[in-house]
Amino acid sequence: MKPFLVILGGPNLALLGLREPEIYGSTTWVELEEMCSGWAKDLGIRISFLQTDSEGELVSQIGKWGSVADGLILNAAAYTHTSIAVRDAVSAVSSPVVELHLTNPAAREDFRKRNLLEDVAVAGIRGFGVQGYRLAMDGLVQILSGVGKD
Ligand code: DQA
Repeated sequence: MKPFLVILGGPNLALLGLREPEIYGSTTWVELEEMCSGWAKDLGIRISFLQTDSEGELVSQIGKWGSVADGLILNAAAYTHTSIAVRDAVSAVSSPVVELHLTNPAAREDFRKRNLLEDVAVAGIRGFGVQGYRLAMDGLVQILSGVGKD
């Protein structure tokens, strides 16, 4: 059975490409999904690609997929800095969660330096733009195959 990863995006990521392109780049969320589908094909894995602006919906999606999928790639966007509920959802699920950001929040405004997810995620990818998704998929496949356990 091919590994199955769920890629979850939080608030405002649907606006990718239009939203502050000087910070987040010009690739749209739809284009990013197409890129991820291509990388998934190369890696021989299956993915689902989901986005929500709602904190409750994000919590529900983490809970729903967090034991069904082999792993999650989560860009919780602004909820990274604010949401104990999203943190608790990540802690609650059994599948490994890679925490991802397009930018490096630690190098930005002070309010982005608080990260409620980094210590409950198995790994983090930050600051590589949309290429970070390729790195996260590749890394998660390696984690699932046992790399890094010894
Ligand atoms: C982001 C960084 C967050 O601080 C911000 O709120 C976002 C996007 C990123 O991918 O760089 O919405 O998660």
